[in-house]
Amino acid sequence: MRNIVLIGFMGTGKSTVGKRLAQSLAWDFVDTDCEIGEVTSMSVTDIFRRHGETRFRSEERIVVARLSQQEQIVIATGGGTVLNPHNWDILAQNGIIIGLHASLEVILSRIGHKNDRPLLKGPKEAIEKLWSERQVSYARADFTVDTSQKNIDEVVSEILARL
Ligand code: S3P
Repeated sequence: MRNIVLIGFMGTGKSTVGKRLAQSLAWDFVDTDCEIGEVTSMSVTDIFRRHGETRFRSEERIVVARLSQQEQIVIATGGGTVLNPHNWDILAQNGIIIGLHASLEVILSRIGHKNDRPLLKGPKEAIEKLWSERQVSYARADFTVDTSQKNIDEVVSEILARL
């Protein structure tokens, strides 16, 4: 059985929805950021701060390559994972790619002020630009669920209905 791969911008609910979806299917759940944390023994924030984004992306590629070999897992990717075409291709070879979407207003209200995501630290205009630029890539998903006005159960039900 192919994997289920959740993609989308930071704060769209990939990890929360992924965990619940995996429970519903009795599959394992894997979060690429957590895997990177385990492999490197560093948090995402620390990798960015101490070694830079390039190192983070290289750890991410290694984790994605490993997870793509597995079957029947729900994978929550980081918001930038599938912007690398190679990551997209290997995840798509062995998985259905599901996009989670939310408006930037909803994302910012969910994440709040105490967010520690390195790429959401800048001014609002920079975050807006990143969000807009990435929509084209996310739109290539097999299907997309808008999580803006839905609770977790509703999102999971919609995914299960569309699988
Ligand atoms: C990133 C998203 C983060 C994490 C890293 C980079 C991105 O994951 O991988 O901070 O480029 O959008 P989440 O989408 O789970 O926040």
